[in-house]
Amino acid sequence: MTGIYDDPWAYELACSFRDVAAETDALLAWCRGHRGAEPATVLELAAGPAEHARAFAARGITATALDLHPAMCAYASERADAADVPLEVVQEDMTAFALGRRFDLIVTLLDSTSHLMDLAGYVAHLDRAAEHLADDGLYIVEMSHPRDRLGPEPTVSAGWTVERGDVRATVQWGEPGDALDPITQISPDRVTMTIDEGGGTTRVIRDVVPYRFWTVPETDAAIRLSGALEVVARYGDFGDVAVDAPEAWRVITVLRRA
Ligand SMILES: C[S@@+](CC[C@H](N)C(=O)[O-])C[C@H]1O[C@@H](n2cnc3c(N)ncnc32)[C@H](O)[C@@H]1O
Repeated sequence: MTGIYDDPWAYELACSFRDVAAETDALLAWCRGHRGAEPATVLELAAGPAEHARAFAARGITATALDLHPAMCAYASERADAADVPLEVVQEDMTAFALGRRFDLIVTLLDSTSHLMDLAGYVAHLDRAAEHLADDGLYIVEMSHPRDRLGPEPTVSAGWTVERGDVRATVQWGEPGDALDPITQISPDRVTMTIDEGGGTTRVIRDVVPYRFWTVPETDAAIRLSGALEVVARYGDFGDVAVDAPEAWRVITVLRRA
């Protein structure tokens, strides 16, 4: 079976509800605010198609994208080449990479830390990020809002529709029955993407993507256990929304070396 991460084009289409340019602007604004300067070098971890890394590269920032999945790495390179932006792509595990250099900004976006299934993996990931951070660098991690899993109503819908040119797709990322295991906090999220490719061709991708739910206190405990990083700020979206505000729909943590 072909999974959603085996088809980076479809994954990127599924995530095209995001305003990557605006999110990149927000990341750069946080760099100006929290380290006094925009970054010269950026590393995107669990980058998938590396849309943000490519956006940084298009702005003249030296960008590196890291992902475990070969199809994602190949796609990120192809898209960067097609856009004529320089992008280094590394196929590596975000819990065990050693690139031998440090970056002004590291980002992990769209809840990719949910692929860290246990505390040892989370702490190893934080240690690796810290090791690759310049002395005045920032590590910014975007996670979904805990309200999505713990509140009476999720903050964001698990189903949405996207369009690109003649292509239209419906995405269902998680079904109502996909409950968190109360012991492991892992949910086998069922993903269905139905792509109307135009001309009467419809393609359906079905997958199960294990999702490890991390609470904010657990994240803070992992940061303390690592000891290599400390929290600078926390935001509830890519603007200036507090994480506990009613309109908050993400948890975005800004970290620096401890
Ligand atoms: C939800 S996608 C997010 C992609 C990207 N961050 C974005 O914003 O679109 C999660 C990505 O994490 C990658 N991934 C999962 N486990 C990983 C690991 N241990 N190390 C590196 N990448 C990993 C997957 O291959 C996938 O591309």
